Amino acid sequence: MSKQESTFKVISATLLLCLVCSVLVSVTAVSLKTRQDANKQLEMEKNILAVSDLVEDPENLTRDQVVSIAKKSLTPRLIELKTGQIYTGDDLNVATYDFKNALKDDQLSDVLPQNQDPASIKRKEHYAKVYLVHDEKGDLKTLILPVRGYGLWSTLYGFLALEHDLETIRGLTFYEQQETPGLGGEVDNPRWKKQWKGKHIFDQEGRLSIQVVKGTVQLDTAKAKHQVDGISGATLTSRGVNNLINFWLGPQAFGPFLFNLKQEKRKS
Ligand SMILES: Cc1cc2nc3c(=O)[nH]c(=O)nc-3n(C[C@H](O)[C@H](O)[C@H](O)COP(=O)(O)O)c2cc1C
Repeated sequence: MSKQESTFKVISATLLLCLVCSVLVSVTAVSLKTRQDANKQLEMEKNILAVSDLVEDPENLTRDQVVSIAKKSLTPRLIELKTGQIYTGDDLNVATYDFKNALKDDQLSDVLPQNQDPASIKRKEHYAKVYLVHDEKGDLKTLILPVRGYGLWSTLYGFLALEHDLETIRGLTFYEQQETPGLGGEVDNPRWKKQWKGKHIFDQEGRLSIQVVKGTVQLDTAKAKHQVDGISGATLTSRGVNNLINFWLGPQAFGPFLFNLKQEKRKS
């Protein structure tokens, strides 16, 4: 074999090896992505069950158990944020609706100007998927709202659950965030999350008044029932949580829907 032929063979073999390796890496990445997405979805569903108090510790549940409890106990609905009405059209499917896809679609979301974006989410979807839990009589027991907003390093994605009075918080949970463990990551700490239960989102005049304070809540003040301790060493993440809760409960997001639900409750 000439020197030229042998160089050609070495290069061909190397290129072939590179091709095989890159195909293997791509196939692995694609197949892992599906599994990663499925795990993210499961984590999200476990958070919904936990925040609505449907199960005490969803961590030990299997995927099938989560799906079965969710199917039995949760009623998903799409809400048009602008009007606060439940979506009844045929174009969107509540079962498959994903707000992250809607955020990539100009027909289904809008850019938020900076001065209307306290939660720093940049874009807002037109429709949001909420979950209702009903009691044995068919009355609303818990309303679970998706929330999100920027902390210090990342967007925090979570759910806020309200009691049937639509004024008292049942729970807050985050299923996706990349704040620093031990600092901003304490938004995931059950002890911190527990404080939200029982807090009132509106004051006596009906104004939105929920607040994450810097430091600790003065329990002997009238405002205490609207306030939650800030996370020490994580003022910026705490501020982010404060901003996102106020944004999603406010007039630009679920405010109209909450108003409509309350009107309906009054009539019935
Ligand atoms: C490595 C590192 C990670 C940090 N992570 C966070 C974080 O996740 N959330 C946050 O609010 N502050 C975080 N901080 C602290 C902020 O940079 C800032 O110092 C802090 O919010 C100051 O306010 P505080 O000490 O009054 O809470 C981090 C600081 C360092 C050095």
